[in-house]
Amino acid sequence: MKLLVTGGAGFIGSNFIRYWLKTHPGDEIVNLDKLTYAGNLENLKEIEKNNNYKFVLGGITNVDVVGTLVSECDLIVHFAAESHVDRSITDAGAFVKTNVTGTQILLQAAKDHDKRFHHVSTDEVFGALALDSKDKFNENSPYDPRSPYSASKAASDHLVRSYFHTHKLDITISNCSNNFGPYQFPEKLIPLAITNVMEGKKIPVYGDGLYVRDWLYVDDHCRAIDLVLEKGKIGETYCIGGMTTDINNLEVAKKILKLLDKDEDMLEHVQDRPGHDRRYAIDWSKAKKELGFQPEHNFEEYLEQTVKWYQDNQEWWQKVKSGEYKEYYQKQYGSSS
Ligand code: NAD
Ligand code: TYD
Repeated sequence: MKLLVTGGAGFIGSNFIRYWLKTHPGDEIVNLDKLTYAGNLENLKEIEKNNNYKFVLGGITNVDVVGTLVSECDLIVHFAAESHVDRSITDAGAFVKTNVTGTQILLQAAKDHDKRFHHVSTDEVFGALALDSKDKFNENSPYDPRSPYSASKAASDHLVRSYFHTHKLDITISNCSNNFGPYQFPEKLIPLAITNVMEGKKIPVYGDGLYVRDWLYVDDHCRAIDLVLEKGKIGETYCIGGMTTDINNLEVAKKILKLLDKDEDMLEHVQDRPGHDRRYAIDWSKAKKELGFQPEHNFEEYLEQTVKWYQDNQEWWQKVKSGEYKEYYQKQYGSSS
């Protein structure tokens, strides 16, 4: 089977490609990535010479490139996106272009060439839950996105479903909670906190820090997508989440400090994010029942593993934080934009 993976040079996409080539060694992967600030070919160094892997530099809004690559593959796994809420607050334009227009261009190509399309989405499309509730999001939760990022992902989900209903395109969608693990860009809470502390800097905690995320180790997300591709029903959505129970950002930051043997004076409360979603939690019982999915990596143990990964791979994140990582591919491919 030949997969077209979009956004495979980012955090989850690169973990997915490594996962897939290990678990399906006979399959081929083409990775279409524009290499925005979040794309880093060093994430894929260990497989770049694998004969079943090919990288193509290009954007998902390029109709010609997308059309050719879609025509040559068996299925599309669509990760490419602008993914950081804070950036969507300062400049939403790229979010609409990539997450909405880019997804539509991919869908049109998938329709033209009659290809299976899996869309990787987020639980943030459902909005926010109250801190004092026991509610969880599920596949029937109403859409209520509250940031330009989640609004653009919600729009992309709707477009994906519209191609199923209108054009009978073979689609599936997964709405997953916050991931963590190796190769996550150090602008997101967990890698930012770990690397800041290793640099002797404080952890910026937005507002009161009592914001709750449903953390999932990235390998569990990759396996969930594999299960959706293998067993998911066409036209269906699957909510994917972790096994943490309502752990807040302050507690996550304190755990990281403890793992790095540092005091809580390394925490710094800073101005809150506008429109900050209070709590996310996922009910993944449909994925369990229909796909046999359940998270296998517990938060405490894999937070420790993740801290260790950032300790063992200082060169990787130092190059990202200094901007030097761009030189690696600029030498091979020139500028991406
Ligand atoms: P990321 O920001 O680390 O990576 C995004 C990748 O997409 C980068 O390699 C970037 O170069 C590429 N890209 C961006 N615009 C592009 C374009 N126009 N054309 C081609 N490539 C482009 O993101 P991530 O955290 O790996 O997230 C991947 C997907 O998973 C996204 O769709 C995101 O919405 C979804 N998701 C993420 C999380 C999470 O916790 N990170 C949780 C649930 C769902
Ligand atoms: P983030 O990793 O940006 O993911 P998302 O906004 O998609 O959930 O943020 C996770 C949580 O951590 C969120 O509640 C915002 C908070 N946060 C901080 O407190 N400080 C930070 O520096 C960052 C980046 C996030």
